[in-house]
Amino acid sequence: MSVNPLAPEWLAHPDDANALAAGVWPMHAARTASGEIQIAGVAASQLAAEFGTPLYVVDEADVRARATALKRAFDDAAGADVKVYYAGKAFLSTEVARWVTEAGLNIDVCSGGELAVAVAAEVDPARLGMHGNNKSHAEIDRCVELGVGAIVLDSVVEVDRVAESARRHGTVQNVRLRVNSGVHASTHEYLATAREDQKFGIPLDQVPDAVAAIRAHDSLRFLGLHSHIGSQIFDSGGFAEAARRLLGVQKGLLTGGEVPELNLGGGFGIAYTAADVVTPIEQLAAELAGVVHAECAALGIPVPRLAIEPGRAIIGPSTVTLYEVGTVKDVQVGESVRRYVSVDGGMSDNIRPALYGADYSVRIASRSSAADPALVRIAGKHCESGDIVVHADYLPGDVTPGDLVAVPATGAYCWSLASNYNYLGRPAVVAVRDGAARVIVRRETEADLLARDMGVTP
Ligand SMILES: Cc1ncc(COP(=O)(O)O)c(C=O)c1O
Repeated sequence: MSVNPLAPEWLAHPDDANALAAGVWPMHAARTASGEIQIAGVAASQLAAEFGTPLYVVDEADVRARATALKRAFDDAAGADVKVYYAGKAFLSTEVARWVTEAGLNIDVCSGGELAVAVAAEVDPARLGMHGNNKSHAEIDRCVELGVGAIVLDSVVEVDRVAESARRHGTVQNVRLRVNSGVHASTHEYLATAREDQKFGIPLDQVPDAVAAIRAHDSLRFLGLHSHIGSQIFDSGGFAEAARRLLGVQKGLLTGGEVPELNLGGGFGIAYTAADVVTPIEQLAAELAGVVHAECAALGIPVPRLAIEPGRAIIGPSTVTLYEVGTVKDVQVGESVRRYVSVDGGMSDNIRPALYGADYSVRIASRSSAADPALVRIAGKHCESGDIVVHADYLPGDVTPGDLVAVPATGAYCWSLASNYNYLGRPAVVAVRDGAARVIVRRETEADLLARDMGVTP
């Protein structure tokens, strides 16, 4: 075994660079007898031949199972019907909207576009929540007109805006109030949305006045407080602290009227690499429900109905991105060599490594190999040196042009953050289930890319 000194500390040298690490790959991913990776019974080579690469491949049964398990875990822990919203920003299509609502979840959207997808999927508007720190008047009107189940107010100016829209539509609109609890989630800075110095929510000390302003409108009904402390969080400590702070304020609010709900947001972490240790969802649910119950008992207030908004934990682990290797290049770095393996996609289909320094893992998908593991970096094909998909992992040393490689855990914030940089068309999304594959979002064509350029002769 030769350990490459360029390998990061967290990356263990594998005994077998073909192995699919437990918890990182979709539930129905496995190697076939011939050694290639299949997802839900469909082989990587078949997927690439039929649909092309890069390709997002979603294990449909995995998404459905995670949605069901999450809802059950929270219902069991809270001893009540917890409102679970799927955070559509992670990845939303009409198919996915149907899968999660069929599992009993609601959907949280944060723009008119996401709302349009949920509407196109014929999701009951009462099961939608609308977020956003700067909702347009048109977005607010559309929500109110549709009868969206809850609008999450993110600033005091929105109170009057939503109240006025509801009045105009002759309705009473349910609202939550997003609070910046000040809790710092232990995660990457750009993902920690509850620090004081950021754009989301209103500070805790302004909550009583904001709630009084909401209650002063006959056209608004106050459902409760909302907090989202960040993303890719592995333990319940931050959520528990946010819950304590919100419930402390809630006690005072109860003197002015009911506060039926408490929404603790999303952010549950997933495994991107074998080094990520994920807290089982049952444990997280039990710890969170436990804190809420204990705190309410201590404060002598009724236990509100819990609501949560996970996105990544439902869709993230379900998906792999398939790429074809184009070039392999060894680069001397000091005394060591880093092998750059370039694929036919990159930062346009997965911006997270460039944006957040996110780590991913990789395997050869079209075959297995007994070659000694070599440290690789998976690079994209874009004109940016930061265009990296996988900073570091080990692949069999004979990785070569024409191989298919698969990057797991790309279900969340990859397609939804995809771009057309360098005029690459965004890849298709294919759902696989019981040995069958179907396109749920088609690949962008060159015609799509030219469609908005008004100088193109028709
Ligand atoms: C308000 C809110 N709720 C839920 C989520 C979902 O987070 P995650 O996908 O990490 O669960 C986010 C993510 O940014 C968010 O901003």
